Amino acid sequence: MSRVVIVSNRLPVTVERAGEAVRVVPSVGGLATGLRRPHEQGGGPWVGWPGDLAGLDPEQQARVEARLSDLRLAPVHLTSEEVQRYYQDYSNALLWPVFHSFPGEVPLEMGGAAEYERVNGRFADAVAATARPGDVIWIHDYQLLRLPALLRERLPEARIGFFLHIPFPSSDLFRVLPQREALLEGMLGADLIGFHTASYMRHFSSSVLRVLGAWTDVDRIRWRGREVRIGVFPMGVDAADFAGTAHGADMDEEVRALRRDGSRLIVGIDRLDYTKGIPRRLLAYERLLREHPELRGKVRLVQVAVPSRTEVGAYQEFRDQVDGLVGRIHGAFATPTWSPIHYLSRGLDRAQVVALYRAADVMLVTPIRDGMNLVAKEFVAVRDDGDGVLVLSEFTGAAAELAEAVQVNPYDEAGTAAAIQRALEMPEDERRTRMTGLRRRVTRYDVHWWARTFLERLREAPAPVRPQGLE
Ligand code: F6P
Repeated sequence: MSRVVIVSNRLPVTVERAGEAVRVVPSVGGLATGLRRPHEQGGGPWVGWPGDLAGLDPEQQARVEARLSDLRLAPVHLTSEEVQRYYQDYSNALLWPVFHSFPGEVPLEMGGAAEYERVNGRFADAVAATARPGDVIWIHDYQLLRLPALLRERLPEARIGFFLHIPFPSSDLFRVLPQREALLEGMLGADLIGFHTASYMRHFSSSVLRVLGAWTDVDRIRWRGREVRIGVFPMGVDAADFAGTAHGADMDEEVRALRRDGSRLIVGIDRLDYTKGIPRRLLAYERLLREHPELRGKVRLVQVAVPSRTEVGAYQEFRDQVDGLVGRIHGAFATPTWSPIHYLSRGLDRAQVVALYRAADVMLVTPIRDGMNLVAKEFVAVRDDGDGVLVLSEFTGAAAELAEAVQVNPYDEAGTAAAIQRALEMPEDERRTRMTGLRRRVTRYDVHWWARTFLERLREAPAPVRPQGLE
């Protein structure tokens, strides 16, 4: 079987400085977690950015490089200016809000297009240097939309797959982007392009038709003498691995400690990102406490918000907003012996996250827009006790699959508050029936199914041919 070369902006580990020391820590986010096993099994390198190595002395640098190479990771080093322009400005201040349908978050100055192109070119050089004939190359996410075409220029015969982990917006919104043609042409360098849901795929096809005027069909696009396949591949989680962690050492004790005060536990775990709907979730919780005084002292919300992209302006304002709401709820409802909300503005290790999943009566996953949301699936994977209620936003990719969740419109504050109350009061047999349905899907369509299905389709896609003449 051919090797798989994985390519993503961020490697599954990030190099961090802690004073004089240097640490190599697991990266945050669904992509890094989800692709870890496919990388272990794929046999090839993973090409990506290891974080900022500037300022390390030569000996520290050599140690980090050796560690990365042991892990089969091929680093693409970025200068601080490239991080600013390609990652923060173009990828996260412009592409991220447009793809999540938040044009209001796009800054007036939309910089970084030239660096985005240049860094995608550097990724193409790095992949071309490490790939061997016959390898399958699998590129991930919006930071690398130009890479498939740039790589095709260097390796015309390569088999290239591309997967988008975030939503694809409607063509009306996509057309906001000044580089719209180049971005689509970039993606069309791949042989197979995958999306989490059918609606993202349809939006992509309409953009290709409207912006490039290319011939499109349900599952294919003709482009410059090649046939590009498109498909829906909803990403899953490593369900067996999560279930294993759920029964690891000390886990029962950890779960008991979380439940010790006897109150019903509501849990939210997100990257601190404005797409995740944390402020609206807090407003719904505040309304619930206001309208149902009998719940005070009997429930508590543990909200974990992992800091993310802290250099991007929109994220800084958003953090202040969340801090303000948490303070307001606390100030209004806390008593000397009870806190309505425990807010943790930092990352937790995997065992702590799994303990929260296990201890939760209600898991709140209420983004206002989310490509998939793997937290929802992780929660289900952990609940082999068959209990717990998932409250899930309609605007996540996961909602298309997880019909047994209590689905909510996160913009509807009263509706979300009512859904939380319903989840808290749900009879045990209904909780178990719903969880059984959810678990069937999450354990069957796991991350291995996802990677296997995508890679099989990629290997079957028509062989890439060199462009000939006119299209
Ligand atoms: O899933 C979207 C995504 O941007 C991934 O590409 C990334 O791994 C994750 O979110 C975390 O984002 P960042 O790498 O910007 O910290």
